[in-house]
Amino acid sequence: MEKILSYAHKLLENKITKESICVDMTIGNGHDTLFLCKHSKFVYGFDIQDVAINQTKLLLENNQINNFQLINDNFCNINNYINNKVDAFIYNLGYLPNGNKDITTLAKDTLKSLKKSLKLLNNNGIIVIVIYTGHSEGKIENQKLQHFAKKLDQKEYDVITYKFINQINNPPYVLAIERRK
Ligand SMILES: C[S@@+](CC[C@H](N)C(=O)[O-])C[C@H]1O[C@@H](n2cnc3c(N)ncnc32)[C@H](O)[C@@H]1O
Repeated sequence: MEKILSYAHKLLENKITKESICVDMTIGNGHDTLFLCKHSKFVYGFDIQDVAINQTKLLLENNQINNFQLINDNFCNINNYINNKVDAFIYNLGYLPNGNKDITTLAKDTLKSLKKSLKLLNNNGIIVIVIYTGHSEGKIENQKLQHFAKKLDQKEYDVITYKFINQINNPPYVLAIERRK
């Protein structure tokens, strides 16, 4: 069975081509950004922490990657930076692994940003969200996202979850939204 992050990448990989524009909404240590840069034309990456921007920049440079723009801002402000259509987004929610656990994505910002991302999403494009329900803010975020995603019009969007339902300790899971053609 495909693990959560590898399944998230598989969903993205199935959608994007060397012509695709992608956004990593939470770059963190840069693993998702690196993956997207290798498979697409251009990647925008957001994070509110300097440490994430610096680590990701280093990782990309060490891999001779140059098709990216890193933006040190809240993902709610995406519309200040991107006006063109986007083929794929990834949100890897929660806090930076090995970082400050108090700096985490917040339900109200995530929802605000997701609504803006849906407006930018190209036909046949995808938004992949990795949700962590093992901490208190993550639980709230999960409820709000589920509530919102379940109500998306099925004529316009396909929405799925991928989740290990027999694992203990609230494992992360994938929520993905695809805009129909
Ligand atoms: C789970 S980590 C991302 C992991 C990353 N994708 C990777 O591959 O290493 C979550 C990141 O979201 C960032 N973050 C939290 N709130 C944010 C916000 N409102 N806008 C943008 N980034 C945010 C945190 O600083 C943290 O680096």
